[in-house]
Amino acid sequence: MRATPPGLPSGRVNTLADLVSAIRTLSSSGESGPEPVRAALTTALADSSDWLDARYLDRDPAADWALHPLLRAENCSVLAVVFRPGAAVPVHDHGSWAVIGIYRGRERETRYGLTEGPGPLEVVGTLVNAQGDVTVVPRDVAHTVEALDGDDAVSIHVYGTDIVTRERHTYDVEIGETQPYRPRFVEPATASRR
Ligand SMILES: [Fe+2]
Repeated sequence: MRATPPGLPSGRVNTLADLVSAIRTLSSSGESGPEPVRAALTTALADSSDWLDARYLDRDPAADWALHPLLRAENCSVLAVVFRPGAAVPVHDHGSWAVIGIYRGRERETRYGLTEGPGPLEVVGTLVNAQGDVTVVPRDVAHTVEALDGDDAVSIHVYGTDIVTRERHTYDVEIGETQPYRPRFVEPATASRR
């Protein structure tokens, strides 16, 4: 039986508060790399009941996606992300590792390797992830995500940085040209800041 990741209750993890608390504990304990976070998120998403607050499933019908901050700290942040099917998410980086776990629906993720200097970006992986799947996105990878099956997809994203303020980029994969990436985040009225 797998050991319970640090910071998680020993029983089932079935509330958002438990997950955020676990990730906060990991980041403040110095175990803020992606693997402990992946273990915690995998444990949480093994519960397929509706434990994510309904407000984090919301998306402005006119918007292609919604980025809901759940936790923000200097070396760690958590978002609930809602993707509209068919939305063209620009290829982007995170300036950090990221861990993505699927809460609802299915997502196709296409990854591109980031190299020094100009030139086209090469695809280094294509994944199709469904509820409960958790993957680590390395720092030296840019990606795009697409919701499948005609329904919104909802996923939990954890970063080793404050993703709201992090300097980030979009990429033209044909020529490698970058632009600043400043996505709009849902007003974090309920986000926990420390
Ligand atoms: Fe991303």
